[in-house]
Amino acid sequence: MSDQDQSKAANQMWGGRFAEGPDAIMTAINASIGFDKRLYAQDIRGSRAHAAMLAAQGIITDNDAQAIGEGLLTVLSEIERGAFEFKTELEDIHLNVESRLTDMIGEAGKRLHTGRSRNDQVAVDFRLWVRDQCDAAISGLTALMQAFISQAEAGADMVMPGFTHLQTAQPVTWGHHMMAYVEMFARDRSRFEDARRRMNECPLGAAALAGTSFPIDRHATAAALGFDRPTANSLDSVSDRDFALEFLAAASICAMHLSRFAEELVIWSSAQFRFVRLSDKWTTGSSIMPQKKNPDAAELLRAKLGRILGATVALFTIMKGLALTYSKDMQEDKEQVFDAADNLMLGLAAMTGMVSDMAAQTENLRIAAASGFSTATDLADWLVRRLGMPFREAHHVTGALVALAEKAGIDLPDLSLAQMQSVHAEITDEVFTVLGVENSVNSRLSYGGTAPVRVREQIARWKASLA
Ligand code: ARG
Repeated sequence: MSDQDQSKAANQMWGGRFAEGPDAIMTAINASIGFDKRLYAQDIRGSRAHAAMLAAQGIITDNDAQAIGEGLLTVLSEIERGAFEFKTELEDIHLNVESRLTDMIGEAGKRLHTGRSRNDQVAVDFRLWVRDQCDAAISGLTALMQAFISQAEAGADMVMPGFTHLQTAQPVTWGHHMMAYVEMFARDRSRFEDARRRMNECPLGAAALAGTSFPIDRHATAAALGFDRPTANSLDSVSDRDFALEFLAAASICAMHLSRFAEELVIWSSAQFRFVRLSDKWTTGSSIMPQKKNPDAAELLRAKLGRILGATVALFTIMKGLALTYSKDMQEDKEQVFDAADNLMLGLAAMTGMVSDMAAQTENLRIAAASGFSTATDLADWLVRRLGMPFREAHHVTGALVALAEKAGIDLPDLSLAQMQSVHAEITDEVFTVLGVENSVNSRLSYGGTAPVRVREQIARWKASLA
């Protein structure tokens, strides 16, 4: 056959009823091999489990199963060596692998597809892939939590300003701020664990949609592929991608958390704040301004949620309103998930590196913590505790003292006792003991509060749980 005849020929894998081949544009829009080749290892693993099960059930011979099993390993090594020729006219990874297998081993290769369909094949391949990504996210998050815990330990009693509305609120400890992220990333980790647990059912054997008339053993293939059990409904098995959506949802929430610390790093590393010094390893210079050290990694991490959430919205929109069961729309699931997963893993690794290498600027943090009337709440609390004032009234009196200090261009601890008493006569000089930042953080001993002793308890709890 000439090249032209070849391209017009009906598909060798399913073209029995077709008199002519697809239009070139049809081939282009239909093919997924350009991206689903990433599923090759999962595809081969699934096929090997399927062939072994077929033989164990007496559906194919042991000889055929052995030829298939070995042939698939050869295909695997061809792909890994870069010696495999992926063909667009063979559409996807499933047909590419099967076709090459049949070229190599003949008849036996054609028996592999007994009792299954590409619909359950792609469902199992993709689940295996997403399950691996859950594992990667879980270990990436564990490493990130450890990096935050090390920072927290080093600065458990280092004071810094705590913010609301990005306005100075109350002094907090660096350790407490770092441990806030440990809580967030721990919840992210548990979301991936939950998603993994739920997705860990094997759709293989659902066949096209209705199950199969061959006496297959779905429990055996499920176990061979590390699943907890087979899925219970064949229609559901080939038609849902909720496991991928759960992964993307967990990835989006995690990327949102990453973006928040990324933003803090951008702010904190600026010349106006100077709360942290980022290492040279995670910053870049400017081609024109020699003094610049730009927090590019942090900025990119701030942006990653854009594409990860974009992938999430895309897959929801692809799946919305699809009547059961499989529709080709679902082939559009993979690129979204691949891109989101790649960027999440890169983001977790970059954040772990930045957090490990950043240097808190202790003195700047302390100065900032002490400014902006940050101990005003401590003063109000003192009025309540010592003078028995109702909190609302204490709030008002403190507000007047802040206004007085602000007008004088000084901070609260710099007011004289006489100035204090001009606002409220019963104030004594004991008040000055509560206006220091160390006192402020040390006094916040409530469970989950910023006091260094509480922070150290949380650090110890997390260290024990990660050990
Ligand atoms: N490439 C397809 C996908 O990614 C595999 C399943 C194809 N099934 C079918 N009936 N055409 O969804």
